[in-house]
Amino acid sequence: MPNMALISESIHDTGYYFSECAVDFQTFATTCEELGQIYHRTEVKIDFASRTYFRSPRALALHNDDFDADYVAWYCTDPGTENVATVLLDAMVFWPDVPRELYPYLHDCYIKRNDEPERPILREPHPSSPNLYFIPWNVVSPRTSHHQEAVNTLVRLIDKHTQSNLESIDHKKDHFLIIDNRRMLHGRPQTPRTTTRHLVRFWIRKTTAKNISPA
Ligand SMILES: [Fe+2]
Repeated sequence: MPNMALISESIHDTGYYFSECAVDFQTFATTCEELGQIYHRTEVKIDFASRTYFRSPRALALHNDDFDADYVAWYCTDPGTENVATVLLDAMVFWPDVPRELYPYLHDCYIKRNDEPERPILREPHPSSPNLYFIPWNVVSPRTSHHQEAVNTLVRLIDKHTQSNLESIDHKKDHFLIIDNRRMLHGRPQTPRTTTRHLVRFWIRKTTAKNISPA
């Protein structure tokens, strides 16, 4: 069983944890259950006939996953011969460059995904640390020029820091990656149509009883 204190400390300090050794799937699931409630499981495989974004072979721009997911975890059953990486950008890196006066505008700009209600890009109007829900292809047209400028600033900062602060995670068979979904943006490059790459993804909601503090 992986060391939960180590996992929590890594997520707290860097926004993510990548397993140091191979584990079986049940161990991965049990580890995730220590972080909270697993409320959704997805098979991440390329299917070029699918209209779902994450199953398409196209590159995925940096984004957050589901609004309710505090953590996103992926278990690699097959990295594929091309080993397409997951790329990560820690919002803590660029957050100091976001002017505070833009926070309320970002809180009043929205993401609309499928049939879900609109959700704010910044979950709180005045957060002490980044608390983002940003999916660039699902941004609702901003209401005013001030709102538009707030989104443009966020996009500019993400683009700027993508040049120098992107983490690249090469998946390995039976290894797993867990990220703080409110802080870390993730994406991936274009993926060959014929890849056998297969990840199992969990969306995890913190539960008060199992909310683990870093050591
Ligand atoms: Fe995603």
